[in-house]
Amino acid sequence: MVGLRPRNARSGGHRLNARRVVIASDHAGFELKLALVAELQALGCEPVDLGTDGTASVDYPDFADKLADAMAQGRADTGVLVCGTGIGISIGANRHRHIRAGLAHDVTSARLMREHNDANVLALGARLIGVETARDCLKVFLQTSFEGGRHQRRVDKLSPPSAPHPA
Ligand code: RB5
Repeated sequence: MVGLRPRNARSGGHRLNARRVVIASDHAGFELKLALVAELQALGCEPVDLGTDGTASVDYPDFADKLADAMAQGRADTGVLVCGTGIGISIGANRHRHIRAGLAHDVTSARLMREHNDANVLALGARLIGVETARDCLKVFLQTSFEGGRHQRRVDKLSPPSAPHPA
């Protein structure tokens, strides 16, 4: 991710590692997604909201796919996904080889998924964490850089091989 300066002081003077951020949720994550879109705007980011657009029941894999497609098209290199637990939507997103989605319930997880795992998507569970914790996770996720080094070797091993290993 490229280092970009936030437009205002909401980020506490830290550099953000993304400005354009795609965000999506299912119905269970809809309310928290709205709060996170507002938080992204306050941080000086340009959120691209891919839905869902209300509390009517939808299927979380469809929104994981939408976000993965938008990132594949280059609309952003950073994403946020929200469902009830964050589990289903992160499983859906991680089916795509260009996505590394990490699930956070606390700011330490949000920091370490960037430092160690170079996660490009933050997944959150709206039914499990409060809005303040979610905002903090988002801010830390955006402010933290990948450490590289030994972690790069491990992250490289997360990418599926392009062809089956010979027997
Ligand atoms: C929807 O009821 C719920 O199953 C979904 O938001 C999510 O928690 C799935 O992992």
